[in-house]
Amino acid sequence: MSRAIWIDVGAEAEIPARAARRFVFAETPIAVFRAGDGMLFALVDRCPHKGGPLSEGILHGRAVACPLHNWIISLETGAAQGADSGCTTTLAVAVRCGRVFVDVGALDRAAARA
Ligand code: FES
Repeated sequence: MSRAIWIDVGAEAEIPARAARRFVFAETPIAVFRAGDGMLFALVDRCPHKGGPLSEGILHGRAVACPLHNWIISLETGAAQGADSGCTTTLAVAVRCGRVFVDVGALDRAAARA
């Protein structure tokens, strides 16, 4: 079982509502989104359809529309919505002292399941 590996990805104030910030960890692109209601979510920044950059999509509530073919991906589960199927990995997010931390330990767990 993998343990949590929290990394600091930047200041909370740098992620406005309905926007995302992207970073790369161990060659894996990760997007941190702030939904319109202020909640933060982190996903591997690859659409489950053909790998589109979800961080460049448009946010609707707690979902993002992929910029390539408009699949709708849940920020909460990483799953495609509607008739589409597939899932991208979700990562835990925490805010401490105004900094955003993402648990990249889940990347090891996702790789182990693949
Ligand atoms: S790559 Fe995202 S919808 Fe096709």
